[in-house]
Amino acid sequence: MEFFNQFMIAPDAQHLLLLRYLLVITLLIHVPYMAMAVGCTSLSLALNLVDRDRKVKTTPMLGRLAYDLMRIAVPNRVVPVLFGMLPLAALWMIYGQWLYQSSVNTMNLFPAGVFVIAAGLLAAFMYKGTMYPGGQNRIVNLALGMAAVGTLIVGTYIVIGSVVRFQDPERWHMTHDPIRTLTSFNIIWKHLFFVMSGFAMAGCGILYFFFDSSRRKPVMDPAYMKIAKNVGAALAMKGVLVLPVLGFFYMVTTPILAMSTEVYSVAIAALIVLFIIFVLLYLVLASPTPRFGRLTFILLVVVFLLTGVWDQMTLVNATKEHSAMLVSRAEAREAKSKLEREKLGTDALKIDLALGENVFNTVCSTCHKMDERVVGPPLNTVLPKYAGKYDELVSYIQSPSKKDPEYPPMPAPSVNLLEIKSVAAFLLGQDPGTLQGGGGGSGH
Ligand code: HEC
Repeated sequence: MEFFNQFMIAPDAQHLLLLRYLLVITLLIHVPYMAMAVGCTSLSLALNLVDRDRKVKTTPMLGRLAYDLMRIAVPNRVVPVLFGMLPLAALWMIYGQWLYQSSVNTMNLFPAGVFVIAAGLLAAFMYKGTMYPGGQNRIVNLALGMAAVGTLIVGTYIVIGSVVRFQDPERWHMTHDPIRTLTSFNIIWKHLFFVMSGFAMAGCGILYFFFDSSRRKPVMDPAYMKIAKNVGAALAMKGVLVLPVLGFFYMVTTPILAMSTEVYSVAIAALIVLFIIFVLLYLVLASPTPRFGRLTFILLVVVFLLTGVWDQMTLVNATKEHSAMLVSRAEAREAKSKLEREKLGTDALKIDLALGENVFNTVCSTCHKMDERVVGPPLNTVLPKYAGKYDELVSYIQSPSKKDPEYPPMPAPSVNLLEIKSVAAFLLGQDPGTLQGGGGGSGH
């Protein structure tokens, strides 16, 4: 964390609240896309391998589907950067701020995973570029596809692993060892959940982007449409079926201190939405024409939203103690800077004889003259007491005490510390230069 802590500060309670919202938003932008990219690329590679012998009449459709899937995963250069890489950078900062100065050591592992993911997205892009219908060299194409799937799986595992570790404060101390950090069933279930949600996303993505997207409706021959529809719906259905099981295992391997009633409620809500998607997909499979593309896609994004909220909640629960530490640290910092500001307010501003004279003429002179008794004593008679005792005079004017029984008590004048110091310097004929920094005077 050392490198990281350099450009982070301890967030206070409001900042922490803001980070919670930022986290959910960033996860919602990033995770559905990333899952879909992983799902589409894996499925595309699988179809591509099955489509080995292009002369066989029954399979060329699969090669085409493999290519169309990559058009969803990496449609252009902008989408992977916007939805893949940039949110990852933001996540790194959000988590870094949230876990500022904690003993967890995975903030260095996280960027490593991000680099692997970047390589994976690049490989996916090149895989798409070398593929049907333009691809000539099949070996290169398949190698790129495998590299893409492999690096994407490894990269997302590392990133998910370093994040899942946050919710286990009792093991933060052992996160120095990346291998031990990443070997945990909690991480494995979470990553499997992610990959499976990616397959569900890829399946729903086919239904949505191929058939239901109002933006482009490609002219499709019915045979291809049927294959695409069935592959999409069947894949999404399998994903949707497996997700509750994986989610359950993830939940039971999550440290109990990260769980709460709210987390369980969110899990149940996700389960209900998954069930609705399942029913819709069943109807899609049963019907001869594709439908519900948009609806299933949106509902699946809702599931991602719920899992994002879930992640945020477990992190809040698990980092309660750490957050309390951060808040008290921020409060201490605030108190310290307030103190410094106050000190600055008196010391940095110049004690000024002209100001002192002005204060004397406007405030003190109503009760004091130099050589005459007014309400208070003539100052010529009392000031010699204070010769060489600048600090004493300052504190007397600040809060006057009873002195001479012949006089009524002097009320505390309504002037600030700088004005008091200035008038005291003026009365004692003190050189302000010797007084900066709050030091005491030493005679005339
Ligand atoms: C409302 C009237 C009033 C004002 C305004 C006032 N004083 Fe006084 N001052 C008094 C009185 C009355 C005493 C005598 C108090 C006593 O002996 O207990 C006194 C006493 C003093 C003494 C003598 C303290 C001692 O040790 O015997 C000093 C010095 C002094 N004033 C300075 C100031 C200065 C400087 C200001 C302006 C910032 C000021 N006063 C404003 C009424 C006033």
